[in-house]
Amino acid sequence: MSLKPHHLDNVLFTPEKIQSRIDGLVDEISGGEKSDNLVMIGILRGSFMFLADLVRDLNAHDVHPRIDFITLESYYGGTESVGKVEIRKDIEVDVTGADVLLIDDILDTGRTLQFAVQHLTDKGARSIKTCTLLDKPARRIVDIEADHVGFAIDDVFVVGYGLDYDSYYRELPFIAEVTFI
Ligand code: IMP
Ligand code: MG
Repeated sequence: MSLKPHHLDNVLFTPEKIQSRIDGLVDEISGGEKSDNLVMIGILRGSFMFLADLVRDLNAHDVHPRIDFITLESYYGGTESVGKVEIRKDIEVDVTGADVLLIDDILDTGRTLQFAVQHLTDKGARSIKTCTLLDKPARRIVDIEADHVGFAIDDVFVVGYGLDYDSYYRELPFIAEVTFI
């Protein structure tokens, strides 16, 4: 067992609270300009549950995107300033001329989202909007904000609803704070 001693007792967002915020996000997203070429791209692995709930709700608003995923990994050296993002598995849909909606679990330093936006711009997307369930503004290093944000949180480490601690806890239907002891 390589995980540091910790516990999860502070539930920040219950399943009900997450679902009701998703309803609000879907209203925001579907209330914007309609696209005849919408592609939703989830950044793996953290976004899988969020994207699945978003697209089911969007379907009820008659929004029918193509869906794909990109697997990105960020590396951190001794200091955060050397953080760098790499593609582990790229998208397969053609986004040339498409309106892309990028989905991530959490916006932290901002490096992952900035990298993904640049990558999809290079691939010829017509427009790119970003949507993240959580945002930790206090941790930002790169100058980027998401177009749609579920909840802003303090600088705490959270798990559940797709977010992991060393690949554990992604399956939790709620989001909880990890307390290291
Ligand atoms: P960024 O590139 O620093 O913005 O990192 C974003 C990624 O870091 C997210 O997609 C998550 O995978 C991970 N991350 C950041 N904060 C947390 C957290 O509190 N819990 C779990 N993963 C996190
Ligand atoms: Mg992630």
